[in-house]
Amino acid sequence: MKALVLAGGFGTRLRPLSCTRPKLLLPVANQPVIDWTLRSLAEHGVDTVVLAVNYMAEAMVRYLGPTKFNLGILYSREERPLGTGGPIRKAESFLRDGDPFFVLNGDVISDIDYSRLLEFHEEAGGLATIALYEVPDPSRYGAVELDGKGRVRRFVEKPRPGEAPSNLVNAGIYVLDPKVIDYIPEGRAVSTETEVFPCLAKEGQLYGFEFRGLWVDIGVPEDYLRANALLLERENGVKIGEGVEVDPSAEVLPPSIIGEGVKIGGRSVIGPNCAIADHVEIGVGCRVQNSIIFSGAVIGDFTSVKGAIIGENAMLERWVKIEEGAIIGDHATICDEVTLTRGVSVCPSKRVEESILEPRRVM
Ligand code: GTP
Repeated sequence: MKALVLAGGFGTRLRPLSCTRPKLLLPVANQPVIDWTLRSLAEHGVDTVVLAVNYMAEAMVRYLGPTKFNLGILYSREERPLGTGGPIRKAESFLRDGDPFFVLNGDVISDIDYSRLLEFHEEAGGLATIALYEVPDPSRYGAVELDGKGRVRRFVEKPRPGEAPSNLVNAGIYVLDPKVIDYIPEGRAVSTETEVFPCLAKEGQLYGFEFRGLWVDIGVPEDYLRANALLLERENGVKIGEGVEVDPSAEVLPPSIIGEGVKIGGRSVIGPNCAIADHVEIGVGCRVQNSIIFSGAVIGDFTSVKGAIIGENAMLERWVKIEEGAIIGDHATICDEVTLTRGVSVCPSKRVEESILEPRRVM
C-alpha cells in the first residue's frame, strides 16, 4: 500500500519558523511532524511513501533519505506550487498500479486507524473516501453533509457562520482510487477541496469516514503549540534525554520533554507543556511554560517564556520576557530586559534591543 504525503507548501502562516525549514520538519514534542506521520503509516501496513515536495525540497530529502521506519521513500519534485490536488497528478507514475492509495496533508498529526479507513473505503465502493473529524468550529475547514450511508452529499469549504452543513470536517486524509487522478487537470495548481471533491460528491462517488481520537493540524502557531501540548500529554510525564544537567533546585513539570545535553540552572521552573530540544541552555531563575524551544537556543538568567516558540540557536539574554504567541526566528537575539508581547514575531538572525508591546513582525 502506498501513501502520498503533501509536503511542498510554503507554510506562510508559520513564518518566520518556515523561512528556514519546511513545515514538516518542525518539531512537535521533539520529533519532526513528518516522523509522527511516517511511523503511524508504517504501523498500518503502508510500505511506500511518495513525498510530494516543492518548497525546500532538499531539506526534506536530506533529512529522510530513501527509507525510514522500514518505509521506502520516493520523492515527486515539483518545479512550481501545484496546490493540494496537482501533486497527485504529478506523482501519477508512482500511483497508477491499480490499487487505492492514501493521500495525506503532511501538516496533520493524527492517530487515525488507516487500516479501518481502507476497509471502509473498500466496503463503501466509491472512488474516494475522506476521513472526517468533528470540531466545535468548522469555519476554517471543509465541512460535509453525509447521507445515511456515509456518502458525502455536499462539501462546503470554509463555511461562513450558519453555512456549515455539519461540524464534521475534512481531516486532510483520504483514500483514492487511481481513477480519481483523471479528475485532476494536468500541469497547473489544483485544489482537491474545491475542484475535485465537489465533482466526486455530485457523482455520488465520495464517502466520509468519521473517526475520533487525536487530530491536529499545525498550520498556524496556536495549533502548532496545541499539537505539541497534545502529544506531550499522550507521552505523559517528564521525559529527560541523555546528558541532561538539571540543577537540584530547578523543577520540570509534566508533561514536558527535555532533549539531550540540555542544561537547566538553579530555581528555574520548566513546564507544563514544554518541548525543549537538544542542547538548549536555560539559566537560573527562568520560567518556561507551554512553549517549544528549538535546539541550541539559549535562555538567559531570570528570563520568562510563556506560550511561545523559540527558534534554533536563538539567544534570549537576561531578564527577557516573551509572552503568549510570540515567535522568535532561528539565530535571533533578544537583548537584556526586552519584553515581546503577544503576536510579535522576529525574523531569523535579527537583533531586538527594545521592548515591543504590540503585535508586529521584526524583519
Ligand atoms: P500556508 O502557506 O500557511 O497556507 O501553508 P501551506 O503552503 O502548507 O498550505 P496548506 O496548509 O493549505 O497545505 C496543506 C498541505 O498541503 C501541507 O501539507 C502542504 O505542505 C501541502 N501543500 C500545499 N501546497 C502544496 C504544493 O503546491 N505542493 C505540494 N507538494 N504540497 C503542497
